Amino acid sequence: TVSSVKTLLAGDVSPGAEVEVRGWLRSRRDSKGGFSFLAIHDGSCHPAIQAVVPGEIDNYQSEVLHLTAGCSVIVRGELVASQGKGQSVEIQAREVEVIGWVDDPESYPVAKKRHTFEYLRSVAHLRPRTNTFGAITRVRTVLANAVHRYFFERGFQWINTPLITASDCEGAGELFRVSTLDMVNPPRQDDGRIDFNEDFFGREAFLTVSGQLNAEAYCLAMSKVYTFGPTFRAENSNTSRHLAEFWMVEPEIAFANLDDDAALAEDFLRYLLNAVLEQCQEDLGFFNQFIDKTVLERLEKVAGSDFARLDYSDAVRVLEKSGKSFEYPVQWGADLQSEHERYLCEEYVGGPVIVTHYPKEIKAFYMRLNDDDRTVAAMDVLAPGIGEIIGGSQREERLDVLDRRMAEQGVHGLDWYRDLRRYGTVPHAGFGLGFERLLNYITGMENIRDAIPFPRVPRHAEF
Ligand code: 4AD
Ligand code: MG
Repeated sequence: TVSSVKTLLAGDVSPGAEVEVRGWLRSRRDSKGGFSFLAIHDGSCHPAIQAVVPGEIDNYQSEVLHLTAGCSVIVRGELVASQGKGQSVEIQAREVEVIGWVDDPESYPVAKKRHTFEYLRSVAHLRPRTNTFGAITRVRTVLANAVHRYFFERGFQWINTPLITASDCEGAGELFRVSTLDMVNPPRQDDGRIDFNEDFFGREAFLTVSGQLNAEAYCLAMSKVYTFGPTFRAENSNTSRHLAEFWMVEPEIAFANLDDDAALAEDFLRYLLNAVLEQCQEDLGFFNQFIDKTVLERLEKVAGSDFARLDYSDAVRVLEKSGKSFEYPVQWGADLQSEHERYLCEEYVGGPVIVTHYPKEIKAFYMRLNDDDRTVAAMDVLAPGIGEIIGGSQREERLDVLDRRMAEQGVHGLDWYRDLRRYGTVPHAGFGLGFERLLNYITGMENIRDAIPFPRVPRHAEF
């Protein structure tokens, strides 16, 4: 019967059984005794399984001795207790069927040696064959399942918000336009401007920067909802924390304020960390050994403790008194830069921290205005090594205040969104979790381009 490498190594099949594995060769080693060792991986777990191939099998000389890293094979044989250390079982091969050869072994881009992550990005179609990207892929899958499980168990509805939209939720002007117009010879209005009436949707349309506004509509009917999907931002920031296409989880809860929102964020994050600690032990062990020696200790600590909270105004005082020379100045009213965020969680708190009540000028129009008239009911969750991994807020549920804030920030239209405040408005709140940032936090990987299978960043849309 066909087994995954994981099943075999986990001891789910007893030695003596006839087994078949299908996968790719990581390496071949030939013994002086006239037999060979093949290491085969199939993506199911971190270690490859070893197959011992005796020189007596039919195609030993003609094929087995020509196998190189990357070849795809099916190996059939008996599962036996392993002689070598490290692995409990191996396959005593009776048959090695070669499915796909590697044309030119010298050119195989991910041959068995250490490659830099930067190099591996240039072969993104083959990097999943490496140990590191196999492990990232599995943790990502466990994490995505845990996201859905968390909300499902708590009665949230999953809302599939549109990827094509007319609204700029964050008001940051980082939209990718979606258009069917001939951009070489676009239809023009009398004043020379492009006539988007002629476009597919009869108006300008964009890829979404957040599903929040649509999620709010469903929240004010279904009470507890969340989105989980791709998000697009044309921010021209060539950093290790920004992607042009990333995945975001956005819960939205009705009859809730900022405290409820922060409590949800904290509970949710701890749940996710516990899920990977339970279900990804082997892969986390890999990251702990090869990527970041603090992974396990850090996750275990955070999964079991309360997050610190800090008012933005206090955060500014902390930063001012830190004695650090930051690249960007610290002053009340300015947004926290990544260096500030990292100081707060890495040096001041030594763990995740939830910063609340930011100045209204630096936050989006939909955040609820506080009584001081200067700050909004906003929160950011900052994590060591990453900075902001969650951004959220209580929403402005009062139509008159919302209208004022929209006017102040030059946000127009959105009558459907304003309707939600006209027909049975309620206090509500939500947040957005950057899925790749969380994945980097968990694995200790440094660059967000390594947390998504095919990263989209300025000047890179290959693959
Ligand atoms: O803070 P942001 O912009 O918040 C929103 O979009 C809200 N509408 C969310 C809500 O309240 N429903 O983004 C939320 C999170 C950030 O904290 C960050 O983790 C992630 O999304 N994020 C990015 N991740 C990767 N690449 C980018 N360019 C990102 N921009 C934001
Ligand atoms: Mg933010």
